[in-house]
Amino acid sequence: MSAIDCRSLVHIYKTADLEVFALQGLDMVIEEGEVVAIVGASGSGKTTLMNVLAAVEKPSAGQVVVAGLTLGSLSDRARDVYRRDVIGYVWQNATLNLTPELTASENLQLPQMLAGRPRNQRSERAAELLETLGLTRIRDHLPAQLSGGEQQRLALGVAIANRPKLLLADEPTAELDRASARRMLEDLGRLRDRDGTTVVMVTHDHEVERHVDRVLRIRDGRTSTETRAETGELLIVDAAGRLQIPKSVREEANLGARVRVRVENRRVIIENADDA
Ligand SMILES: Nc1ncnc2c1ncn2[C@@H]1O[C@H](COP(=O)(O)OP(=O)(O)O)[C@@H](O)[C@H]1O
Ligand SMILES: [Mg+2]
Repeated sequence: MSAIDCRSLVHIYKTADLEVFALQGLDMVIEEGEVVAIVGASGSGKTTLMNVLAAVEKPSAGQVVVAGLTLGSLSDRARDVYRRDVIGYVWQNATLNLTPELTASENLQLPQMLAGRPRNQRSERAAELLETLGLTRIRDHLPAQLSGGEQQRLALGVAIANRPKLLLADEPTAELDRASARRMLEDLGRLRDRDGTTVVMVTHDHEVERHVDRVLRIRDGRTSTETRAETGELLIVDAAGRLQIPKSVREEANLGARVRVRVENRRVIIENADDA
């Protein structure tokens, strides 16, 4: 079963005097554990797609199945459970994730409280999130006292507090400088590596391609092209010598968590350490 399966998805906004076709028959399949970037011009329907995937908007037509659930036909109750337990959503406007009267630490505990987590687990998880997101210093600050970048990182923390299977993030690096944006992308990648979380993010950031498995381009409410990182072409070795090997390549080469590396005629051979 795929994590996300959209077929002929249509979304129309009806206002008093006009209809806007934001999604016009969009098809998209995303597998569990994939990290995918959605790119496209302003107004191409990216946020609408995220809102449909987050069950904020009901699709006007077509089908969207996430984690086996058909979103168009969820009851109100099932929809609340879906939004609380199955997905995490970082809104394009990060402050929508944050409750202004609560401190950073309390904001991280709120979704866990709604999910019925006991108090000690909640504060433990909040402390862990503050630590990984580099926000420990501002744990007792209110959202209004944070920089745009800190708000965006806190919004990510709130979205992943309940360890969702699917994380949706709408331009999560928009407010960040280059270094923080890179860190955010690395955080998102780690989330997949550690928890197997499927990550779908909207972005304008051209650096993003090295951090994701696949880039989907939306044009006029339809997915138009797809770029996959391929061996020898788009892979980049960073200053620390780190290399991200795409999932498809790891699978094809049967690479596990431990590999053996050797050099032959100036070629680097990476092979499964457990193979003979
Ligand atoms: N609430 C709304 N009411 C009417 N039209 C909307 C609404 N939200 C978005 N749109 C329109 O739908 C289209 C897609 O918007 P959006 O999904 O926000 O695009 P993107 O996130 O790619 O910039 C645009 O033409 C936008 O003006
Ligand atoms: Mg948008």
